[in-house]
Amino acid sequence: MKYGYFDNESREYVIDRIDVPVSWTNYIGVKDLCGVFNHTAGGYLFYKSPEYHRITRFRPNGVPMDRPGHYVYIRDDETGEYWTLSWQPAGKDLKEAKYVCRHGLSYAKYQCEYSGITGEQTIFIPLDDPAEIWNVKLKNDSNKKRKLSVFGYAEFSFHHITVDNQNFQMSLYCAGSSFKDSIIEIDLFYEQKGFQYFTADGNIEGNENFDCLRDSFLGSYRTESNPLAVEQGFCSGSFELGGNHCGALRKTVELAPGEETRLVFLLGEGDRQAGSVMRNKYCSKNFEQVDESFEQLKNFWKEKLDKLQIKTPHEGMNTMINIWTLYQAEINVMFSRFASFIEVGGRTGLGYRDTSQDAMMVPHSNPQKSRARLVELLKGLTTDGYGLHLFSPDWFEVQTEPPFKSPTVVPTPSRSQMVHGIEDACADDALWLIPSIAEYIRETGDFGFTDEMYTYADTFDPKTGEGKKESVFDHMKRILDFSARETGPHGICKGLRADWNDCLNLGGGESAMVSFLHHWALTHFIALGKYLKRDVSSYENMASNVRKACEKELWNGSWFTRGFTVSGRSIGSPDCKEGKVFMESNTWAVLSGAVSREHGIAAMDAVDKYLYTSYGLKLCDPAFSQPDDEVGFVTRVYKGLKENAAIFSHPNPWAWAAETMLGRGDRAMKFFDALCPYNQNDKIEVRRAEPYMYCQFISGPDHSAFGRANHPFMTGSAGWSYFAATRFMLGIRPDFDSLIIDPCIPPEWPSFNVRRVWRDAVYNITVKNPNRVSKGVIECMLNNQNVSCNNNIAQIPVQAEKTENLVVVVMG
Ligand code: GLC
Repeated sequence: MKYGYFDNESREYVIDRIDVPVSWTNYIGVKDLCGVFNHTAGGYLFYKSPEYHRITRFRPNGVPMDRPGHYVYIRDDETGEYWTLSWQPAGKDLKEAKYVCRHGLSYAKYQCEYSGITGEQTIFIPLDDPAEIWNVKLKNDSNKKRKLSVFGYAEFSFHHITVDNQNFQMSLYCAGSSFKDSIIEIDLFYEQKGFQYFTADGNIEGNENFDCLRDSFLGSYRTESNPLAVEQGFCSGSFELGGNHCGALRKTVELAPGEETRLVFLLGEGDRQAGSVMRNKYCSKNFEQVDESFEQLKNFWKEKLDKLQIKTPHEGMNTMINIWTLYQAEINVMFSRFASFIEVGGRTGLGYRDTSQDAMMVPHSNPQKSRARLVELLKGLTTDGYGLHLFSPDWFEVQTEPPFKSPTVVPTPSRSQMVHGIEDACADDALWLIPSIAEYIRETGDFGFTDEMYTYADTFDPKTGEGKKESVFDHMKRILDFSARETGPHGICKGLRADWNDCLNLGGGESAMVSFLHHWALTHFIALGKYLKRDVSSYENMASNVRKACEKELWNGSWFTRGFTVSGRSIGSPDCKEGKVFMESNTWAVLSGAVSREHGIAAMDAVDKYLYTSYGLKLCDPAFSQPDDEVGFVTRVYKGLKENAAIFSHPNPWAWAAETMLGRGDRAMKFFDALCPYNQNDKIEVRRAEPYMYCQFISGPDHSAFGRANHPFMTGSAGWSYFAATRFMLGIRPDFDSLIIDPCIPPEWPSFNVRRVWRDAVYNITVKNPNRVSKGVIECMLNNQNVSCNNNIAQIPVQAEKTENLVVVVMG
């Protein structure tokens, strides 16, 4: 069953059957102001932090689902009939009305045709202003004159997620609202910068045209589906010091047959004065600035996407890579992982491992943000060499203003709560930072970054900004040394609180994943060090020891063991009854470069044999059914869900990449295709979630909802899919001084093209495959000159900035 289609020309996903089974979401805003909205305009807006500074309220996990939102109501003032431009909360029967949602890059468009009125509400946030614009267009397609009231409505929150959800005995009496100069202002009295505004174009006057109090607008015993003000056709001019507040503004329009009109509502951060500035800017001169800002936003994304565009025989791969997967990866880097309809803001800041990986995926499209994230992570590292699992980057900046103090008592975390000890360290967290730094440098050529000096979290004094400072290169060494030190009896890295798998809590037991990751990080570090002519010989020895331990202790004769519990039992090996085969150890055995090709092939064959399903690869098999605290929380999750043998998306691309390293392009594509959301566009009765987004996990075959996708958007799967598809399958990856072309594709592909911008030069690459092979480059021409191909890999030297270069590669 299908609910929409990909409109690649407009870079939109179009939902033309609006009653999708669950919310299909999108992210609005690319800087400080951000909103998460679904296909029916339900959702919320926050400024900088979804935990501390939520602007509009959301009632998560509730019924009716995913409300409230930012709504536009239309009322026919002659008949009294009313509806919303989005299908919820006051939509009409789908037999009588047509609703469409177009999710674009950082905007959502809600379109509605009902009773001769064609309406559209586009919500977006201009690049440089913290104001959400609702661009509303109405057209009278009937043959009679129409008199309409148009109401814009949103409900405000008490900012802090905790304050907004419990103990209202303070917050209810410290939030006020007022209306003046066509602007509603909300004031959180106990906060220094606790202002927001809601306004619209034109002069708005009179009590019938505004309400600042939610309950006056909605009326008692009513919901957003039947607000009293809309039903009766006028507002009541409510405002108050104290209470629950909303922005509700009414405007009237008269439309002759065929006539069109435009209205703009603005919802923003700041006080009435700020609102007035924005109103002048966006609501004057025929809304020129609205259109210009919308174009700028489109260009902002176009420029990013233009850094890498592909044209392959695989339409799904083209659509995902050229538009949606980079978009998803970028959103994760911009907003970290804590704002969605699932993660509703109770956590804030950065997760060490997630952010390190996310930052690795977009250095070409967002080098500044990648770099900024790397710096934040370097400052969140301890001198012991482990990263703080969850931290707020501002903890490690000099404090310029007093921290937020809520009116009810939300205790300020103490230093020891911020800088946790090794008992709370995850074994993998900081290891991800090393390849991430190396990839950032390969992309940008910013070699000086390795010498920049940054403090360590455990030595930092927020009052002075002082603390032990070392170079980035030295930070990297401490990370590698930590993993070399924290090993168990087999010489394999300890699992500690968790490794990449949050639910595998091995403590002093050992984790194959971490040792393989350690090796991968070492290879990146050694390559970088050698390029910079630094002495890395001790790390070469370290890598060799890791390889020996991995082959000796982890190869179990059939595939690679996942680890050992603290009492020495093995996990993920043939003698286990449950959790016999794991994805992480087998994919990382290959990816890390730590094991022989022969063992790598056997390991990936086991992945195919035991873990493959038509919706992607399961994390492990068979699922755990008995709680076992030596193994971890995974044994207490229902079978087929999350880490317990679900199709966990994030590691799937590891398998694609591993297969390409083994030269098996068709196998990599088989795995790619199974997970690919695009391929499930017509299976929504099973998938349920949006087909333009990777989801955290798909319920596995052990679960009754096999194939159902859960937790869209906020997942490292997007970044990894992008990384694996572009760098390994299409094989285009920057090195320190050359652009490598080393594809591994299905043998039936005759050719493909990639346009890649790298270090400010354009590479128009054509890869030809006349002999229908999977891997191996035999010939390469750069601007009609031969380039030698060592080891069947093309290496294009860095070309001058601003040049367009023609690259033709022949596989064979
Ligand atoms: C979630 C977490 C991530 C973890 C993964 C596997 O996606 O955000 O940190 O690696 O689950 O447990």
